[in-house]
Amino acid sequence: MSGFVVWFTGLSGAGKSTLAAMLSAELRARSVHVEVLDGDEVRTNLSKGLGFSKEDRDTNIRRIGYVAKLIARSGACAMTAAISPYKAIRDEQRAQIPHFVEVFCSCAIPVLAERDAKGLYKKALAGEIKNFTGIDDPYEAPESPEVVVDTGKETKEESLAKILAKLEELGYVP
Ligand code: PPS
Repeated sequence: MSGFVVWFTGLSGAGKSTLAAMLSAELRARSVHVEVLDGDEVRTNLSKGLGFSKEDRDTNIRRIGYVAKLIARSGACAMTAAISPYKAIRDEQRAQIPHFVEVFCSCAIPVLAERDAKGLYKKALAGEIKNFTGIDDPYEAPESPEVVVDTGKETKEESLAKILAKLEELGYVP
């Protein structure tokens, strides 16, 4: 089996990390080697010191893409779970990474603001955090991702099943 990259994209709180954790557990159970590059974790290590300007976000995404490509080249699955808000930079990663599977975690902003697990939407709406994606910073939704999950409407299990079905259809997982 060839290595591949599952690239999650979506707003903060839309379920990227949760689905990446669920998917990685499922794939490991099927004997697939998996590494997860989670947005928050990357920012405390590989991208420590970067902020949330467009330039810093682009740098962050290019670093994640570079590492994901190396992981996939070794025959494993790399999962990335960063907002990755800019289409051009995501498409740049798609162009340089063979076997790239984009998963758009869609969720309406009112639902995210209601959930607000980290309390960040409340702060962003109050103007206490600037350049918060979806509030006062852009998010460019993918036009033709391999998978779209609507985490405001589906259960986690339904979303996971959709992603698994696509990976099986593509022949990336047994
Ligand atoms: S990006 O745009 O892909 O480089 O962002 P990412 O590395 O995924 O980091 C997003 C997480 O950082 C927290 N956070 C912010 N998000 C968006 N905008 C602003 N201004 C911001 N400041 C902090 C937030 O907790 C994101 O976590 P997730 O996991 O997406 O909820």
